[in-house]
Amino acid sequence: YPTREFIKQLPKAELHLHLEGTLEPELKLKLAKRNNIAIGQETIEEVQESYQFDSLSSFLNVYYPAMNVLQTEEDFYELAWEYLKRAKEQNVKRAEVFFDPQAHTSRGIKFETVFNGYYRATQDSLKLGISAELILCFLRDMSAESAMETFEQALPYKDKIAGIGLDSDERSNPPSKFFDVFKKAKEEGFRITMHCDIDQENSIEHIRQALFDAKVERLDHGTNIVENPEFVAYVKENNIGLTCCPVSNSFVVEDMKGKEIIELLEQGVKVTVNSDDPAYFQSYISDDLYALAENYSLTTEQIIQLAKNSFEIAWIPEAEKENYI
Ligand code: ADE
Ligand code: ZN
Repeated sequence: YPTREFIKQLPKAELHLHLEGTLEPELKLKLAKRNNIAIGQETIEEVQESYQFDSLSSFLNVYYPAMNVLQTEEDFYELAWEYLKRAKEQNVKRAEVFFDPQAHTSRGIKFETVFNGYYRATQDSLKLGISAELILCFLRDMSAESAMETFEQALPYKDKIAGIGLDSDERSNPPSKFFDVFKKAKEEGFRITMHCDIDQENSIEHIRQALFDAKVERLDHGTNIVENPEFVAYVKENNIGLTCCPVSNSFVVEDMKGKEIIELLEQGVKVTVNSDDPAYFQSYISDDLYALAENYSLTTEQIIQLAKNSFEIAWIPEAEKENYI
């Protein structure tokens, strides 16, 4: 398998990255101090020790409280900007990044505070040679009404948002809960993607709803499609990409799902490798690619194919794609 340096230098697109998941312990401490927020931790080691999880829900239980340190537009800017600088080191040319407005509006932060900070960072990223776009995610463990409210808040910023996604705790929160708001989003011309997390209670049914009812353009994670040849054929025919996150998987289900990722790659599905929440899983996109290569003996050609897939399923205008690949 290729070297770490080869993987790092390979031009790539990152398509599954939660901005809130890039909160490094150092920045968390800095923002806590700046905003006078008691977080109960004083050193990087103490923050790192709190980053322990063995399931999606135990991860989310650490993830949401940590966000309290994010208060001002400048905080949101800084969070996104720090990520984009790291992405540059990994030769990320295109970043389509998730953000969770409800994780902030639900604790009294204004939508525009969040949005303006993040958006300004994506604009500044052009200076780094990265084109960056925002994907607004609804929290599926909140109500459909809350998602609709969030959608209304986002509408004035429509031209500055690349698409709409769905994340957070999947258990008992199927895509169907949000069909109304996703239908509206489609009517407004938004592109759609959804998390179909690994090995969920009703994974196959959730994937079915995402693909055939909501008609998503991508599946975030989604590797459970491998169990169903009909789904595999459908995603291939419709050029629907999968944004997989092996190191994240190794935390939440104790399995990178490398076997499944490679099987799908070999079947010609546009699978990609991404970092999900790099500060929490201590793995940026090149580390994810390297971890997969190392553990499953991927060839250089397979790594190149994964990087190529990332541009092919990116939401870049077709005419501009040749500038990347
Ligand atoms: N929010 C941040 N990371 C997530 C993940 N892997 N699944 C669902 N929601 C998330
Ligand atoms: Zn995710």
